Amino acid sequence: MDLKKYIREIQDYPIEGINFKDITTLLKDEKAFRQVVEEISSYFANKGITKIVSLESRGFIVGGAVAYCINAGFVPIRKKGKLPSKTVKESYELEYGTDTIEMHEDALSEDDVVLIHDDLLATGGTALAALKLVQQMNVKKVYFSFICDLKFIENGNKDILSQYETHSLVEY
Ligand code: PRP
Ligand code: MG
Repeated sequence: MDLKKYIREIQDYPIEGINFKDITTLLKDEKAFRQVVEEISSYFANKGITKIVSLESRGFIVGGAVAYCINAGFVPIRKKGKLPSKTVKESYELEYGTDTIEMHEDALSEDDVVLIHDDLLATGGTALAALKLVQQMNVKKVYFSFICDLKFIENGNKDILSQYETHSLVEY
């Protein structure tokens, strides 16, 4: 199954010049959704992963399903102000301004093996901030998983992320 065919591209959304990758058309197809979850799960099944760390909001959908399949726990990273208990925080740059993400400070321990999952790797700003949150917990082994990887975007974030084993299903 060619998963790329299930991802709808919307030109000039949310702003002019962006060709938005809309995964809702993939998620609503039961066979495509199952293939995504099964491919990611089989790739990571034997790596000893104890926690899936996933990012609000589009990362939660597949991240939760993969955690179930590989018998790992699920840890949400949320945008600032959404988590009720004590958190660690990281800020990252957007095209205009900055944003902050948070994770509960007791969500991970240093012996966890973590898979950070998100739907999309674009500039890598979000993924790098997630990595820094996980590293604040002294976790030593981290993997990454994305549905879509926008390989044509190259920058310093990507150079750092390339040091970690990463699985992506669809490349642009
Ligand atoms: C999008 C996407 C990734 C991130 C990728 O999320 O879902 O999380 O941007 O971009 P980057 O690699 O340039 O950081 P967004 O922050 O738009 O929020 P959402 O998932 O809640 O829609
Ligand atoms: Mg997101």
